[in-house]
Amino acid sequence: MRIAVLGSLNMDLVMEVERLPRPGETVPGRTFSRYPGGKGNNQAIASARLGAEVSLFGYVGADAFGEELLRVAQDAGVDVTGVKRLPHAQTGIALILVAPDGQNQIAYAPGANGKIDESYVEQIIPRLKAADVLLMQLEIPIGPLAFLLRKLPEDRPLVILDPAPAQDLSALPLNRVDYLTPNREELGVLLDSPVMEKDELMRASQTLFSLGVRHLVVKADRDGAYLAESGGVTRFPAYKVKAVDATAAGDAFNAALAVMLAEGKGPYEAIGYANAAAAITVTRKGAVSSLPTRAEVQDFLRHPYRYDPA
Ligand code: RIB
Repeated sequence: MRIAVLGSLNMDLVMEVERLPRPGETVPGRTFSRYPGGKGNNQAIASARLGAEVSLFGYVGADAFGEELLRVAQDAGVDVTGVKRLPHAQTGIALILVAPDGQNQIAYAPGANGKIDESYVEQIIPRLKAADVLLMQLEIPIGPLAFLLRKLPEDRPLVILDPAPAQDLSALPLNRVDYLTPNREELGVLLDSPVMEKDELMRASQTLFSLGVRHLVVKADRDGAYLAESGGVTRFPAYKVKAVDATAAGDAFNAALAVMLAEGKGPYEAIGYANAAAAITVTRKGAVSSLPTRAEVQDFLRHPYRYDPA
């Protein structure tokens, strides 16, 4: 099965800190590392490690970070021939702080990612249409995404949109989104109200259904994930693991969901599998470096207790 990912490639500059700083505060750092990342790149590499044939589309700058990101993605088996190198732009950079409990704070400078435009999307549409599943996120401009969704055939490919970082989606034709996969904070921004519990989720998701979204999958960290469909809400409990770094857990989740749906699995099986992929990711440091292989997810599903902190 074929997965196309249209999204960002970033170099992640990561500092482990004793605790995440409050506004205006300075906190001491413990370690500093550099990891390949970016939501698009992470989701593409995760999908490849989980066994899919993957093509990544996006922009990097013509600089050393861009070259390194492309090499790492290619080594992971991702087809990067559709990624463009922009001569006068910097490759995207993310600054990430990670606390001892694995929680993080991320700010990013989009650089080349922010230059993606409709003419690029127009060029790659034939390759996107050929995929079984198209995965996208919001670290690239929303205008070209709206343009793309309007141009896709109604029934193919299946579209998964990870609305991260959160922003207003009113420009997007959401009736062409099969799965919308926010985390709780992002859902709060989309609906302009914090939504937490199962009952509230059903009520709130009606707004998104009325805009055409077919499935809403909410990533809820330690609470697992929720699937809201027109018929009701189902909760998928999280696995108990020792969290080291939450970076890219959402990306592993989206990729695993994409791979399972591309293989013809239903949403229930796909979300259970995605929870396992995300759980493994939080036990490891970094973005690309933390994404599991298919064998690892299968092993985890057989022996989840090995990861249990208790
Ligand atoms: O989802 C994790 C990613 O978000 C990081 O790799 C970082 O690049 C940010 O974009």
